[in-house]
Amino acid sequence: MALVSVSEITYGRMRAPDLDAMEEFLTEFGMTRSARTANALYMRGTDPAHHIHVTELGEPRFVGFAYSVDDLDDLARAATAPGASGIENIDEPGGGRRVRLTEPNGYQIELVHGIASLPPISVAGTPINTGAEPRKRVGSFMKLNGGPSHVKRIGHGGFSTPRLPESIRWFRDTLGVIATDDMYRGSVDNISTSFSRLDRGDDYVDHHVLLIRKNEKAGLHHISYEVADVDDLFLGHAHLKKTGKYEHLQGISRVAVGGQITDFWLDPWGRMHEHWSDIDRLNKANGSRTIDLASDVSATWGSPGSQRFLQYCSP
Ligand SMILES: [Fe+2]
Repeated sequence: MALVSVSEITYGRMRAPDLDAMEEFLTEFGMTRSARTANALYMRGTDPAHHIHVTELGEPRFVGFAYSVDDLDDLARAATAPGASGIENIDEPGGGRRVRLTEPNGYQIELVHGIASLPPISVAGTPINTGAEPRKRVGSFMKLNGGPSHVKRIGHGGFSTPRLPESIRWFRDTLGVIATDDMYRGSVDNISTSFSRLDRGDDYVDHHVLLIRKNEKAGLHHISYEVADVDDLFLGHAHLKKTGKYEHLQGISRVAVGGQITDFWLDPWGRMHEHWSDIDRLNKANGSRTIDLASDVSATWGSPGSQRFLQYCSP
């Protein structure tokens, strides 16, 4: 039995020496400022979560991920874990309470509860005609306004690590995430990439909330956000490209493991941020798989993952 069973990923936390430049990137990426203090930037999506991305002022570094728990009993249990902080009031916009843990690579894991919500931001969707449903948009003209994607929510976070089995075990035993796909090379115990999802029983959740990749160094692999729909992802790609300011690393492609349409961009300090739409949705009964990397697991369309992408790691 895991220490707790987290209900969702809540935000990622990193540091940057220039909050203006970070806010500009995240705005062009499709988020909206929720709050800004002298020392930190809080960005939100269109869902009610108060913030889904935190940047503290400081030398560029990834701090860690935060996950929500269902109640204060979970926080009390988490506070008994080795090295846990005890229950703290979060002295930041949105408030709430938290327990801080340290995962095996030294990154901070916050378990949070009671952070304020905000009214959702409405997004005007554009229906799409398909072969099966050719009358979804009858009697009107296609209207797409250029601009950033509309980031809806945070979806998952990923680590690179030289301590893969230990890291997988820690996250599953501590946060209660469950195996979706463990990908191996040669023998099944030689896992190189591991995908875990939330355990919400019969409820359907994203294919993964966490991925962990074997690497020579430990660090952030990427942080990932759902956008409004596939059109919105392509619009956001065109917008980021048009700014001429940011480096595109991977995509647009439909990945074979997870199933989502995906696109990856680097922030001004090289941290990889993902847009995605239409991921596999699974519940507990859907179980888990082990996948031989010798089988074809490259993108089903679009560019397959480059070596740089696969081995990406930012401290
Ligand atoms: Fe991802």
